Amino acid sequence: MANLVKNLVLKSVKKIYESSAQAGPVFEKISCSFQQGKTYAIRGVSGSGKSTLLHLLGGLDVPTQGEVLLNDISIASLGREFLQNTIGFAFQAHYLVNELPIIQNIMLPGRVKGLSDDLCKERAHALLQLIGLSDKAQAFPPELSGGQQQRVALARALFNKPAFLLADEPTGNLDEDNAQLVVDILLEANKTEGMGVVICSHDAAVYRRMEIVYVLEHGALLLDQPPK
Ligand SMILES: Nc1ncnc2c1ncn2[C@@H]1O[C@H](COP(=O)(O)OP(=O)(O)OP(=O)(O)O)[C@@H](O)[C@H]1O
Ligand SMILES: [Mg+2]
Repeated sequence: MANLVKNLVLKSVKKIYESSAQAGPVFEKISCSFQQGKTYAIRGVSGSGKSTLLHLLGGLDVPTQGEVLLNDISIASLGREFLQNTIGFAFQAHYLVNELPIIQNIMLPGRVKGLSDDLCKERAHALLQLIGLSDKAQAFPPELSGGQQQRVALARALFNKPAFLLADEPTGNLDEDNAQLVVDILLEANKTEGMGVVICSHDAAVYRRMEIVYVLEHGALLLDQPPK
């Protein structure tokens, strides 16, 4: 039986941060559907709420009102482990473990899950190949460039083959070539594994490569119309 395509849905979500409640909601009544197998970008000026929206979408934070649903089930009712296997995150800061070689960093999600060392190594080597760093398997993170570290973080996020990968400015610190490499990797995982991609980015060279582009503006999420 074919796997059901997963849908991640924001249903009339509103977010107010308690500590800045006087500033009003970051946004309210945002409804939007993200489908596995498709690629999305969310753009918007600094402070428009992109990271906030992505955190809600991945269950890292909860909406003040409204719901986030995965195939019609509120993600608040889903276990952390289930969510971790369904939704991967890639952030601008990459949080690699400096004391572990690259291959071990990439294997971490599998080790945490209790998969065998051999299985983890096999998958990690395939991912190293995907990110073009097979020769760095035994290097340590501080021995890699920022762009290379970013790619390793991405490989680690892809390890569990998540149905969705949420990426918050994953190319923010990178030069144009490295930024395009990161996007290439995301699009490759989308093509080969049917992973849904949601990326927040200010960079037109990044967000224009996604199939569907939204803009977050004055608390509303609108479909972005590309220039004719
Ligand atoms: N933890 C928090 N507590 C209080 N206010 C917050 C918190 N996080 C974000 N905000 C506020 O919410 C608004 C949206 O922030 P958010 O980080 O989502 O914006 P962003 O679009 O990701 O910006 P950037 O492009 O700079 O990353 C901002 O006004 C910000 O000050
Ligand atoms: Mg942000």
